[in-house]
Amino acid sequence: MNSSTNQVYSIIWHNDSVSLIDQTRLPNEYTFVEISRCEDMARAIKTMIVRGAPAIGVAAAYGMYLGAREISTGDRDEFLNHLEKVADLLRSTRPTAVNLFWAISRMMKTAYETLGTIEEIKKTLLDTAQTIHLEDLQTCHAIGDNGLAVLPKTPERLTILTHCNAGALATGGYGTALGVVRSAFREGRLARLFADETRPRLQGARLTAWECVQEGIPVTVITDSMAAQCMKEGLIDVVVVGADRIAANGDTANKIGTYSLSLVAKAHNIPFYVAAPLSTVDFSLSDGSKIPIEERNPEEIYQIGNTILTASGVEFYNPAFDVTPAELITSIVTEHGAFSPKELIKYQEKKVA
Ligand code: MRU
Repeated sequence: MNSSTNQVYSIIWHNDSVSLIDQTRLPNEYTFVEISRCEDMARAIKTMIVRGAPAIGVAAAYGMYLGAREISTGDRDEFLNHLEKVADLLRSTRPTAVNLFWAISRMMKTAYETLGTIEEIKKTLLDTAQTIHLEDLQTCHAIGDNGLAVLPKTPERLTILTHCNAGALATGGYGTALGVVRSAFREGRLARLFADETRPRLQGARLTAWECVQEGIPVTVITDSMAAQCMKEGLIDVVVVGADRIAANGDTANKIGTYSLSLVAKAHNIPFYVAAPLSTVDFSLSDGSKIPIEERNPEEIYQIGNTILTASGVEFYNPAFDVTPAELITSIVTEHGAFSPKELIKYQEKKVA
């Protein structure tokens, strides 16, 4: 955190290693984990010490550099072969957020295209990871401001509902959905943020609420099942969520519960925005049915702390993401502006790497 502004940065490169805020311990403990080896970065992504689509892309980019610097050979082909294995390890951590695969591909492309000594390739890989990191922060600011520009004009001060955590913790800083919230707050257009607690891992209750408290953004936490009732009571003006992977037709994978939120928003005639960088768009997938959905340990459902919630003998199903059909999305807000899901395909050539 930057103490003069209370801005949160979940990933910091310093002293030749990466500091990650340990997001599994928030809000009770605000601690950092130092990562200097590729294997530790892979574990940090898998165990969700770092999570959120853009953040795991940035973390994987640094992981690629950490893996590269562990390779001790002067032979270019041997180096690239080893680096492919580093890439495989990082790719195996989480399947849904495409930013992870996008960042690893960009790092591999950099390695293949850089001529010169192995040491020079390693240096270029570090430069590229830092560029991906910085670009993500800049992209989030642009998404925030582009989202602000398309928010409904009335009422003057809006109540926004969000799901999961698409904030500074989930990105290089500022956030995507929370970037829109931050820009609205800055311009006096935010009355209040409603944050779904986001079962089962509670990213809304634990992380989004914590981020808001750091900056004095007014926030109300509700359980996921309360969203429809809040809409019926007229408490919500607009929904803004992040994304883990957007197919070419605009179908959007995001944290489990997003799809039902989009349905209740539609039933109440409330605009539903997805805020995400173009690196989250997977133009190779024609629609959302092809997006791989991560299934996580059922422990996340039946256990809170040391308390077991459910009788033994029960079966569980724990998909971590769902897919919201494009027709339920009012607008997709990116660093290049906000547009309808149908217009997304026009932006294919603007996607870097
Ligand atoms: O499982 P998580 O916590 O990594 O899931 C995160 C989300 O679903 C976010 O909404 C998404 O990655 C967008 S983050 C800017």
